Amino acid sequence: MPAVVVVGTQWGDEGKGQVTDYLAKQADVVVRYQGGPNAGHTVVVDGEKFELHLVPSGILSGKTCVIGNGVVIDPEILVQEIERLKKSGLDVSCLKVSSRAHLIMPYHRLLDALQEESKGPRKIGTTLKGVGPAYMDKAARTGIRVQDLLEPEEFKEKLGMNLKDKNRIFQYFYGREPMNEEEIARTYLSLGEYLRPFVCDTAVLINDAINQGKRVLFEGAQGTLLDLDHGTYPYVTSSHPVAGGACIGAGIGPNKIDKVVGVVKAYTSRVGDGPFPTEIHDETSSWIREKGREYGTTTGRPRRIGWLDTVMVRYASILSGITGIAITGMGVLAGLSSVKVCVAYRHRGKEIREFPASLSVLNECEPVYRELAGWPELGDRGNVPESYDALHPNAKKYLEFVSEATGLPLVLVSTGRERKSTLEVRRVF
Ligand code: IMO
Ligand code: MG
Repeated sequence: MPAVVVVGTQWGDEGKGQVTDYLAKQADVVVRYQGGPNAGHTVVVDGEKFELHLVPSGILSGKTCVIGNGVVIDPEILVQEIERLKKSGLDVSCLKVSSRAHLIMPYHRLLDALQEESKGPRKIGTTLKGVGPAYMDKAARTGIRVQDLLEPEEFKEKLGMNLKDKNRIFQYFYGREPMNEEEIARTYLSLGEYLRPFVCDTAVLINDAINQGKRVLFEGAQGTLLDLDHGTYPYVTSSHPVAGGACIGAGIGPNKIDKVVGVVKAYTSRVGDGPFPTEIHDETSSWIREKGREYGTTTGRPRRIGWLDTVMVRYASILSGITGIAITGMGVLAGLSSVKVCVAYRHRGKEIREFPASLSVLNECEPVYRELAGWPELGDRGNVPESYDALHPNAKKYLEFVSEATGLPLVLVSTGRERKSTLEVRRVF
């Protein structure tokens, strides 16, 4: 009963979509378990680029794809995404959406923007998709779920209750216009009708699949350091990207998970605000940003860039019980004469090897680097090395160094953005 969870080990954008796309070919079911349209998973198939925010990347392999209960769904974005996939001739009938998943409402998006604005310089730098406010309502037990979309009377009642409160906040706290209830109801109920055939009890479906010995892949979104509990709080997202999130967000027992693949980008990026010990601001960071096209898939913002931080990856490893790592972005670093990897931090003259909880300590930490020789282009444009062994020796040294520094075996390496540029080092399924 192999069930494998894919998690991001950094601040998101590690290349989880690409890793999921590769492993999806070996899987029967692919599940998104948390987060929402703040995620942006880019997969390039035969030159065609797909940017997925809610639908699991497994849809590109025609696998059963599940949006689990732990995901917050903006139905407008979901419907647009389904339509986009259909236009490319993909079969979307294998998509299943949890009736228990919560909805992102138009007032969540507005609240997200207003809350960010009022934080001023202490803003989080959210994706403004309404994700945080939707999870707030879920925890406050006032959220509206996918199931409610299928029961118009129930939906209208819940919408009315919510809007009464939200409009008070908009009018009296933020001095804004109130939102129109009928308009939202009309739009959402018609989106609900569109989505009706996709909705089911996904926890039952996933557990049945696991019990029948099928291969189930859980596609992580965001990264460990954006986890609400374990990340660089408050500069985090409002959900649980760690592997444990799969249990809650898909409805499976922890004993059902066999392996956890941590996705590690060969360097680090961060798109919102918050601490970033290995961040660099020089020609190399601009070069990496341009070469790696490090601009947000969801927001278009330029991403902050830094060297790989193994203190962080080791922390991610214990939080999710990572059993192997997939290293992405090796082709981006190709061409540099040397590359750096952070192996520890120095704080007020003392070396520390654990990731600190205090943001002020983290802000004062200086990375302790090891410098390794760079490698030439790994052969993009149809010229991808066909195996791990065929990689340039310096690239292999880098990969082995990271594996050793994190204490984790290497399972996959990706050298470019194309589907065929992912090399398998060890079988996952
Ligand atoms: P994928 O799945 C990178 C970041 C935002 C912000 C913080 C909170 O593509 O790796 P939110 O909108 O979630 O309330 O914003 O989290 N963030 C991501 N950064 N990749 C993502 O997803 C992200 N999802 C959220 O930039 O700093
Ligand atoms: Mg992203």
